[in-house]
Amino acid sequence: MNYENKDLIFKEIPTGKTAWRSPSNIALVKYWGKTGVQIPSNPSVSFTLSKSHTDTTVHYAPSVHGNCGVEFYFDGLPNEAFAEKTRQFFSKLGNIFPFVNQLNFRIYSKNSFPHSAGIASSASGMSAIALALCDIENIHFMTFPDKDSFFKKASYVARLGSGSACRSLFGGIVEWGLTDEYPESSNYYGTPLNNKINSIFENYHDSILIVDSGEKKVSSTIGHGLMNSNPFSSTRFVQANKNIATLNNTLKNGDLNSFVKLVESEALTLHSMMMTSSPYYLLMKPGTVSIIEKIWEFRNDTSIPVCFTLDAGPNVHILYPHKYNTEVQDFIKINLLCFTADGYVINDVTGQGPEKLEAK
Ligand code: PMV
Repeated sequence: MNYENKDLIFKEIPTGKTAWRSPSNIALVKYWGKTGVQIPSNPSVSFTLSKSHTDTTVHYAPSVHGNCGVEFYFDGLPNEAFAEKTRQFFSKLGNIFPFVNQLNFRIYSKNSFPHSAGIASSASGMSAIALALCDIENIHFMTFPDKDSFFKKASYVARLGSGSACRSLFGGIVEWGLTDEYPESSNYYGTPLNNKINSIFENYHDSILIVDSGEKKVSSTIGHGLMNSNPFSSTRFVQANKNIATLNNTLKNGDLNSFVKLVESEALTLHSMMMTSSPYYLLMKPGTVSIIEKIWEFRNDTSIPVCFTLDAGPNVHILYPHKYNTEVQDFIKINLLCFTADGYVINDVTGQGPEKLEAK
C-alpha cells in the first residue's frame, strides 16, 4: 500500500476551507501494541459512534515562506499543544500530500465530549483532519475515482495520526489489521464489516459514563510502547486473534451471551496489560470498578444482555441492544449516576460514519 504521489503540488496556490464531522469509535477487540509505522500488533474491531464526534474546519492559504504553518483553535481558543501535534502529523505526510508544505493551515476544532479522558478523541480528531486533507486533494487534484477510494485513503492517513482513528472513517462496525477472518483486511486502513452483521447490532447503544473527565496520566503512545517489554504481550496477541474469529461468528449469529463475555474480557485484558507493564499503572478509578460490579449484578438479576467495555481511561462504556433502552436507562439513573462525575453520561449509539459540513 503506497499513497506517495509527487504530482500533488500546486502551480497556482489556492485559498480555501473544508469542514468535517468525524465520530469516535469504541473497540470491542482492542488494539494495544504496535510495530513499525503504526502497524497494529493484532487486529481490532470497533463500533463507530454517532454523538461523540469532532467538528473540524480547516482553512488553508498559500505559505509565503514555502513551508507549512499550523494554527490550531480548540473550542474557539488557540491551543499550542494541538497545533504542535498537528505539525508533527503533517511532517509525516510530505510524500502523501506534498501540497501540505505549500500551505498555511488555520484549524478550528471542537469535540462533543471531553478530550484526553480515554474516549477516543484522537480517533475523531485525527480522522477529521485526514478527511480535510483528502478533501483538499479531491477539490484541487480530482484524484479519487470514487467514494470508497476517498475514504480508504482518509483511513490510511488517519492511521498515521492515531492508529484507532483509521476505524472512524466508516459507519457501523469496522475492522483494522490483517487477519485470515476477513480477506479484505489490512494493517494500513480500516474495513467496514457491514455485510452479514446480525440486525441485533444495528443502533447498538453505548452509554458512556464519565467517571473522571481529567487528562489521563499515561498516554496511549506510552502504553503501546510498554507492550514491547510486557511479559504477557505475545499471549495477548494470540488471544486477540482468537477473539477476532469468535467475534466474527458472534456478529453474524447475534449470540449476545458470547458477545458480552468477549467484550468484557477484552476490556479487562486491556487494563491488565497496563497493570502488568513495567512501569505498571492503573487507569481505572474506584467508580469504574463499582459500575462494573453493578452491571454484573443487574445482568444477573434481569438477564438483560448489557455489558461494559473500557477504553484507555476510567470511563465506562455500557453496551446494549436498542430494545433494552428503557430498562438500561432506568438502571443507569437509579444505580450508576452516583459513580459519575456530576452525573455526566453520553448516551451514544452506533453511527453512519463521517459527514461533510458546510465550512464557515
Ligand atoms: O489509537 P491510539 O494509539 O490512541 O490507541 C488507542 C487504543 C485503544 O483505544 C485503547 C484501543 C482501541 O483499539 O481503540
